[in-house]
Amino acid sequence: MSERKRRLDVEDSKSTKSGRYDNDKENGGGMSSSKQQINKYTGRPFSQKFWQILTKRKTLPVWDYYDKFIETIKKNKCVVLVGETGSGKTTQIPQWLSEYAQLTGRKGVACTQPRRVAAMSVAQRVADEMDVTLGQEVGYNIRFEDCTSARTILRYMTDGMLLREAMNDPLLERYSVVLLDEAHERTLATDILMGIIKEIMNNREDIKIVIMSATLDAGKFQTYFDDAPLISIPGRTHPVEIFYTPEPERDYLEASIRTVVQIHLCEEMEGDVLLFLTGQEEIDEACKRIQREVENLGPEIGELKCIPLYSTLPPNLQQRIFEPPPPKRENGAVGRKVVVATNIAETSLTIDGVVFVIDPGFSKQKVYNPRIRVESLLVSAISKASAQQRAGRAGRTKPGKCFRLYTEKAYQNEMQDNTYPEILRSNLGTVVLQLKKLGIDDLVHFDFMDPPGNAYLTTTNTVNCLVLKWS
Ligand code: CDP
Ligand code: MG
Repeated sequence: MSERKRRLDVEDSKSTKSGRYDNDKENGGGMSSSKQQINKYTGRPFSQKFWQILTKRKTLPVWDYYDKFIETIKKNKCVVLVGETGSGKTTQIPQWLSEYAQLTGRKGVACTQPRRVAAMSVAQRVADEMDVTLGQEVGYNIRFEDCTSARTILRYMTDGMLLREAMNDPLLERYSVVLLDEAHERTLATDILMGIIKEIMNNREDIKIVIMSATLDAGKFQTYFDDAPLISIPGRTHPVEIFYTPEPERDYLEASIRTVVQIHLCEEMEGDVLLFLTGQEEIDEACKRIQREVENLGPEIGELKCIPLYSTLPPNLQQRIFEPPPPKRENGAVGRKVVVATNIAETSLTIDGVVFVIDPGFSKQKVYNPRIRVESLLVSAISKASAQQRAGRAGRTKPGKCFRLYTEKAYQNEMQDNTYPEILRSNLGTVVLQLKKLGIDDLVHFDFMDPPGNAYLTTTNTVNCLVLKWS
């Protein structure tokens, strides 16, 4: 093919609706001709896998919002986007914005994730969706691992890594679009980034910011970003029936294992199980015990595949959560996949096929004790908002069930509505040092979403007050 002809082909494929390939007419009518399209990034025809994934992408709730989203981002510097977990926010929106950035600034796009696992897994998925090799046009950047190259347009990264970049490049000039994903998690790094981004927005005309969240109380983000417009993607979730234990459980690990086995034996409905535990050791232990108990029950019962998921797991093992469940036995016994996960599976990663959720009501959370000045990760009760997110994971493919291993009374009376933002649970010494390194000395006027000086109201954090006075 001559150089000129090829360039024309590349241009042509560009002219399809920004890489969405959703209008068959533009591609000459049918699938057969559209299948000859050339991938403008690689110069090769799209693979079979690309077309398979594309069919699935077209069913995602965000897919129909392309025009509205692009129109809004063109007119505004900052957009807040909310949508249920699994609606396609993290995988689709950054792709649209990469196209957009190529047309305008020709700079990069950064999408932050609070967790390393999510950054890696989603980057792999998006590389597959764009039919490119991971680390080329799409890459990820996490601490101690930079899987990007000079060609990289779209970078998934942990919020901590973007914060580090801001230390060397205060205006984040490398990027024309920055997406802060999972903003509802309110991690320390995301909170500091939000403050910094507000300052960047005042200094750069060409930057676009997208704040994405899985919860519906987006009002706070809108107000914070000077009444930024909100795009709300209606979810397509199924109803989830919620069960509580009549009495508090003494040993939640024991109760969790018992519940998994019971679901596997007694529920006739096909569907996988998602169990939330708090950390690696506990998860490995639970997997071993579940597998052992099920093996002891004999060959008649359905096959059960137990898969752990936590952030320190090597990437190839993390990908196992996307494996299909084991098949039915000849006697009709249902095979199931059981994913035993930390909070990662609450909103960061979507596992399709989950119908049963077991929520013991705990997660590891950072807690700062100002009296002894020690910051530690403690297993603590989750909030109502978290419990609702966890239950929601059961309703993605069909009506599901959520087994809460605590009483309804505990849910109503003891759980707080929302988890406190991490900045209110942290040693402010670290925050102050980080901000100073970012060149921000005037802490009193730095625009925090939740000023940590107020922390004493909620945690009697006297040390925090002292630090702020010192500034
Ligand atoms: O960010 P949000 O929770 O809105 O959804 P997403 O992460 O963009 O995921 C959208 C869909 O992509 C999910 O429903 C999965 O079917 C699929 N996906 C996948 O198959 N493998 C991944 N590693 C990530 C997403
Ligand atoms: Mg997401």
